[in-house]
Amino acid sequence: MTEQQGEFSIDQLVDDLKKAALLEDAKAQVKSILERTVKNPEWVGISIPDYADDDVILFEDDSVSIWHCRFQMGLSVPAHDHQMVATIAVYQGAERNVMWFSSGAGGIKQKTEILVNAGDVLQLGPNAIHSVSSAVDFDSCAIHVYLGKLTTVERSLFDTKNGIVMHYDGDNYQRLVSADRA
Ligand SMILES: [Fe+2]
Repeated sequence: MTEQQGEFSIDQLVDDLKKAALLEDAKAQVKSILERTVKNPEWVGISIPDYADDDVILFEDDSVSIWHCRFQMGLSVPAHDHQMVATIAVYQGAERNVMWFSSGAGGIKQKTEILVNAGDVLQLGPNAIHSVSSAVDFDSCAIHVYLGKLTTVERSLFDTKNGIVMHYDGDNYQRLVSADRA
């Protein structure tokens, strides 16, 4: 298991998460590994690779998807679901998670706002809907772990302004990001 001694190793963390995802209590195990990992967020920030892309898939198979996510200042990710348990562990900056709920007939309403600071872990159920942005005036960085294969699962995007549910794909994603900036 990852210990907070010596250098932080992203490879070790990925290995630990892969093993945890196969356990019966995967949800609790993944949360606990991530809580231990970001307990000292600077320790992660100092030794984690400087990834070129904002979203990097570190590992994916049928049981788990492990991502490194960077949220640039001023950009926000449109509301979406995951259709699997998602665990967010922030080690730099802070993520503003706006939680939404379905209000029937395709409508969607804002429920609450959760600030996930460096050192915090947020776990979301399979049907949770959130939109995400950096809550600080610099980039936010986090490890996101999903208990399933996120790139192939059927999931949804939400146009929260017009109450429209859309299939999650690249085109719809870009459409929502552009509308948000307009
Ligand atoms: Fe998400």
